[in-house]
Amino acid sequence: MKSIDILATGNLMPLIMEGLSKAFTLHILPAADQRDAFLAELGPRIRGVATSGHARVDGPFLSKLPKAEIVANFGVGYDSVDAGWAGQHGIVVTNTPDVLTEEVADTALGLLLMTVRELPQAERWLRAGHWTGKGPYPLTHNTLRDKTVGILALGRIGKAIARRLEAFGCRIAYHGRTQQKDVAYRYYSKLVEMARDVDILLSVAPGGTETHHAINAEVLQALGPQGTLINIGRGSVVDEQALIKALQDKTIMTAGLDVFEHEPKVPAELMAIEHIVLLPHVGSASHHTRRLMGQLVVDNLTSWFSGKGPLTPVAETPWRKS
Ligand code: 8YV
Repeated sequence: MKSIDILATGNLMPLIMEGLSKAFTLHILPAADQRDAFLAELGPRIRGVATSGHARVDGPFLSKLPKAEIVANFGVGYDSVDAGWAGQHGIVVTNTPDVLTEEVADTALGLLLMTVRELPQAERWLRAGHWTGKGPYPLTHNTLRDKTVGILALGRIGKAIARRLEAFGCRIAYHGRTQQKDVAYRYYSKLVEMARDVDILLSVAPGGTETHHAINAEVLQALGPQGTLINIGRGSVVDEQALIKALQDKTIMTAGLDVFEHEPKVPAELMAIEHIVLLPHVGSASHHTRRLMGQLVVDNLTSWFSGKGPLTPVAETPWRKS
């Protein structure tokens, strides 16, 4: 397969770069100022793309790769790839589902507990020497006891989170495009109605135009002054300016965020709010899980170019196993 040219849209994790260099001829997309010349020369030879969500792989970009057959995305979320356009132009798109499900669900529960029980703030209290000076950390107003959690997008990760929440004794509701027949949790066809009824709104929703700013000022208002927002999916799902205002005005109580609208930029207004919890998009970020995700990127490309089809094609990719 060495005669096949693959383009990495950046310097991806070593496991991917090494795996792809061994099997294929690997090229790395250069910095913006050299891209046009690079794509004009090499674009017509590229047959596969490996990407990680940090570069846009859309129609205009893919048009410069007329021989592209497959885009392998590192990450279950593939909002940086225009999979619809790719599908219409016969290009397969793959992502990395399943291998990260339990890790992200673990992180979601960690973030939820950190947020409602103010664990980072309590730790800061101890480290600042306040325990011996000012006394015990103040009791938290928030708790997970006797709470209802509304999950936005009950997919594979949402369900893994729900299983954990059941063990924690929480009531569970969910909102998504359709009600799922095999799920006993209460379904809401309207997000704002679910927000009104639950204590904690936990978003696992993917990015993209369909979910853009789904959690807006109206939803936050409905969540209310005792409400908690947790976002482990994509930053674009939450209207960040509306969230800042809702936190400043105490329209909601608190938030725990692993994802942001313009990563890695986190608004100064959020940084200034001491009682919320902010994580730098670490949902799947363990060596164990990232290795599995990286290997799946390599395996999707090698499987495709061995004529065995993609291993994990996304929904927009019309693909039938023969
Ligand atoms: C990764 C993620 O951090 O899988 C996803 O959709 O958000 C994370 O697991 C990210 O994709 C890495 O680029």
